[in-house]
Amino acid sequence: MKDVEVKIKIRECQMEELSDIDRAMVNIAVEATDSSYAPYSHFHVGAALLLADNTIIRGCNQENAAFPAGLCAERSAIFAAGAQHPDQAVKTLAIAARDHNGELTEEPISPCGTCRQVMIETEKRFGLPIHILLYGQKRIYMMDGTENLMPLSFSDF
Ligand code: THU
Repeated sequence: MKDVEVKIKIRECQMEELSDIDRAMVNIAVEATDSSYAPYSHFHVGAALLLADNTIIRGCNQENAAFPAGLCAERSAIFAAGAQHPDQAVKTLAIAARDHNGELTEEPISPCGTCRQVMIETEKRFGLPIHILLYGQKRIYMMDGTENLMPLSFSDF
């Protein structure tokens, strides 16, 4: 028997330290929170994708009175990209969220497990590690590749 240590690599940074395109993607994710439909949780999440051809896709959470019918911001963006630009890899995914007071979260917003699973498959589908930006007012987490969000993920291919 032996312990196996799994390492993930996350970079912590501030807005001023981001490249112009990364800062733009974070700002678009923040803007996307304004379109969120979250009358139940009052937690407004925005996502911004940069595709291989530099198309930008926005997503935001869409809730429903039948709770499980709702969808997270990340998946709404990824599925919109899949529907409208099926041949374009996702280069970057940025997310941001506002709480019930309309304030941007202090700590980085982190994707739920189901969104991580979808991000992993998107990455595998196009063979390109996704550059991930998780925004918080205090810090931004940046990582390259979904294995840094969800090691030992399920895959059937
Ligand atoms: N939500 C997202 O949109 N993305 C996440 O990564 C976590 C949670 C949404 C789902 C629900 O509409 C609200 O945030 C509260 O959980």
